[in-house]
Amino acid sequence: MPTPDGRIPFLEPELPPLEDVEADLREIYASGVFSNGGPFDRRLAEGVCAYLEVAHCVPVASGTLGLMLAIRALARREREGRGGARPYVLLPSFTFPATALAVEWAGLEPMFCDIDPETWQPRLDRTRVEASAGRLAMILSCNTFGAPSDVSAWSELAASLDLPLAVDSASGLGGRYADGRRLGGAGVCEVFSMHATKTFGVGEGGLVTTPDPELARELERLRNFGLDESPVCEGPGLNAKLSEIHAAIACRALERHEEALAARRRVADAYRARLEPQGFAFQRLGELSPYQCVSVRLPEGVMRGPLRERLLSSGIETRTYFAPALHQQPRWKDCPRLQELETTEALCEGILSLPTSNRLSEADVERVCDALLRLV
Ligand SMILES: Cc1ncc(COP(=O)(O)O)c(C=O)c1O
Repeated sequence: MPTPDGRIPFLEPELPPLEDVEADLREIYASGVFSNGGPFDRRLAEGVCAYLEVAHCVPVASGTLGLMLAIRALARREREGRGGARPYVLLPSFTFPATALAVEWAGLEPMFCDIDPETWQPRLDRTRVEASAGRLAMILSCNTFGAPSDVSAWSELAASLDLPLAVDSASGLGGRYADGRRLGGAGVCEVFSMHATKTFGVGEGGLVTTPDPELARELERLRNFGLDESPVCEGPGLNAKLSEIHAAIACRALERHEEALAARRRVADAYRARLEPQGFAFQRLGELSPYQCVSVRLPEGVMRGPLRERLLSSGIETRTYFAPALHQQPRWKDCPRLQELETTEALCEGILSLPTSNRLSEADVERVCDALLRLV
């Protein structure tokens, strides 16, 4: 929806209506339980398990914290299992900084892999992964933009190398794998974000889903200062609990999530219908994602910088997710690479993320497309 001055914002966070959440807030205030795994936290975990058909869900205060705790837990297991520390986590460079930062917070270092030119998902190069396996503590794949990666192949490879596979599905809640299953059940665990900018947005928050009851228990401890029933802290931990207020908002968001997914798909379909025939490339299998935003690769030869400036002066905001890629940023430029990151670099030159929200009308999409097609 355009702002009063006619601008089309890049995104418009849409939380459940205040009227729906009001009664929950009253219940929370009356109960005096604001955190610490209260009833809304439990209700959310159960609701997510049912929706995604997964065995366990641990709500956390952000997606980044969920990744940190999961990586920490899996790396510790790996160390104990093998009796020796392996320093690297394999992840794509084409992702948000949070993925690599979480690796570092967990005491490990990123090793970057390239992406597939059509799906923009981590590219599986079996021979190279096998050659580097001796230096890897785990594989952290991504369901980039909430669309499905080739998770079966990655799971198979990780299992053959006896490495844990975790998946960063930050913007993917409600998305599906190519076989129709919802994201959430792959690998040892998957991690989702509930940041306000996500299609499943509640403000701040995250979810870790796992089929492994031991890992779920450990994550519960890790998010709670390393404590369980006993007041004695026997392991690592921090405070990563989700507040009851955010859990309540998330429970309401879950009730209407299918509606949000349908609204986003309408927007994405409208962009695709206008732009694909004109040489704009869309992410293959993107239609299975919850479309946090719609990203396109610009036709060959289009200068993105001037294009974005002209769009902005027509009142249209855009972004360039995920450019620059991580290995193109000073912090990570010296990290080891599994292979040349040429597909990542080529995509980063031409990626453009278009305004996307539940409330964007057909006319708004037309306005963005008209401006784009006029300018390229
Ligand atoms: C790919 C990816 N991983 C992790 C995160 C971190 O999630 P959060 O913002 O909830 O910490 C994000 C971000 O927003 C993301 O896009």
